[in-house]
Parts: sequence; C-alpha cells; structure tokens
Amino acid sequence: MARLVFITGASSGIGQALAWRFAQAGYRLALAARRTAEVESWVSARGISANSYQIYSADVSVPDSIVAAGRACMAAQGIPDVVVANAGISVGVDTSERADIDVIAQTFATNNIGMAATFHPFIEAMAQRGGGALVGIGSVAGIRGLPGHGAYCASKAAVISYCESLRGELRASGIKVVTICPGYIDTPLTQKNRYVMPFLMQPQDFADKAFKAIEAGASYCVIPWQMGLVAKLLRLLPNALFDKVLAGRPRKRRNSEP
Ligand SMILES: NC(=O)c1ccc[n+]([C@@H]2O[C@H](COP(=O)([O-])OP(=O)(O)OC[C@H]3O[C@@H](n4cnc5c(N)ncnc54)[C@H](OP(=O)(O)O)[C@@H]3O)[C@@H](O)[C@H]2O)c1
Repeated sequence: MARLVFITGASSGIGQALAWRFAQAGYRLALAARRTAEVESWVSARGISANSYQIYSADVSVPDSIVAAGRACMAAQGIPDVVVANAGISVGVDTSERADIDVIAQTFATNNIGMAATFHPFIEAMAQRGGGALVGIGSVAGIRGLPGHGAYCASKAAVISYCESLRGELRASGIKVVTICPGYIDTPLTQKNRYVMPFLMQPQDFADKAFKAIEAGASYCVIPWQMGLVAKLLRLLPNALFDKVLAGRPRKRRNSEP
C-alpha cells in the first residue's frame, strides 16, 4: 500500500504545492480544508486518480471539526505516514482596535490550537505503529515580532516552541516532529503584501525543498536557505538596532484595510 500524507490547508498555496509534491512521490493524499470544492477542482485538474485521494471538510479553528476529519481519514485510508499542519491565516492587527482582538483570537485558534488539534487524533495510532512524521508549518515571522503583525508573529513563535516541545515528548515513540519555517512564498497569503519580500520563492520550489527535509526527518528547517541566514541574524540583532531597521516599514494589512 502506498504511503499516506494528511495535509491541512490543501485548498491553496503551500498546501496544494505540498500535496502535488507528495503525489509525485507516490503518496496517497488526505486533503483537508474548508473550501472542499477548490480541492476537488484542483485534484481533477491535476488528474489525480480517484483511488489515491480523499477530501475532508474541516475547520481547524474548531477542534472537534479537524479531530473528526483526522479520525475519518484513519477510518477511510489508514494511519498517515506524514501529517502536515499547514492551514494558517496572516492578518495585520492593531491592539487599540476592539475588532482586532477577535482577529488575534482567530489567528491563535487557527495557527496554534488548530495545529495541536490536527496532530491529536494521529499520535496514539502512530505511536502504536512505531513511527510517522508530524510537520508543523511555522514562519520566519516567528523569530522576531514585526510591528503591526503581532498576532501572526506570536502565533508562529508559538508554533516553533510548541513543535520543539512535542518533538521531545514524542522522541521515544518513534514519531518525528518536523518544524518548517518558510520565508516569503508566492501564495494568496503574501500576494496582498505592500512591502518588499526578499528571496520570494515559488510554492512548488518550496514544496520540493520541504518534501526533502520531511523525508530526511529534519527537526527544523528554514526555506529558502537565504532566509535561514536572515533568521539567524534576526535572533542576534540587539533590540535597539532591530527597532531602527523596522521603523517606518509598511505594515501587514488589517481586515478593514483595502
Ligand atoms: N506564503 C508565505 O510566504 C508563508 C510564509 C511563512 C509561513 N507560511 C505559512 O504557510 C501556511 C500556508 O500558507 P499559504 O501561504 O499557502 O496561504 P494560503 O494560500 O492563504 O492558504 C491558507 C490555507 O489555510 C487554510 N485555512 C485557513 N484557515 C483555515 C481554517 N480555519 N480551517 C481550515 N483551513 C484553513 C485555507 O483553506 P480554506 O480557506 O479552504 O479552509 C488555505 O488552504 C500557513 O500556515 C502560513 O502561515 C506562509
């Protein structure tokens, strides 16, 4: 039986590119998203055969919804070899605006609670089998806090720490936890950005590198590598210099901004 990958956020961008890369490597696909019609038309446009994929409708910000999708996947297709918690949102916020407090809550519900709830149903089954990989999609934005982007940066910092904790917890079980931090990837999530995006990468190129890191069982990987250097430098930069470099930089759009 071909290997199986479960991917959230499979209706767009990085999730779709990863799905295609795994399909090319001979994996069966378990594809989760809210917009299942998008996934269905993508699968048929790619000519993926009916017996090698299933689509699951799930909202990762509602734990029961994504947990049910994970259980449905195991019942229909078996225990995945790889689970990619990729679904995520990125919206600018202003803490002085009441409406943005709800945006912060939705960001944490999607990017953080959603990730834990995506992994949850698979852990016991993977541990009994003695192996598997849980992949968390973080971001270089999780390394330092960018002005106007506090919800997203905080959520991705939490992804990095959460996945590191999980990696240690699951070490003895044979389950690998892989943290992938993309730099700037050309997807609908970044297409509205109004600032310069260095080393912008096409999703399929990103997916190729991420696939290799996952197959190699890397614990942590920044893609592209140039942004890995940027991430290392960002960690070292003293606050005063960091604040100066970031001053005046255009901010991520808030929901109410055109
Ligand atoms: N693009 C970049 O430069 C970049 C950089 C660093 C990190 N990342 C991370 O990479 C991941 C994918 O981003 P992308 O660039 O591919 O963005 P995207 O094109 O906007 O896709 C986001 C995906 O997440 C899904 N999603 C969002 N909220 C969801 C929810 N509540 N329940 C279920 N699915 C949900 C969407 O599916 P539905 O709307 O159909 O549910 C969609 O498939 C995110 O975690 C993002 O933070 C991206």
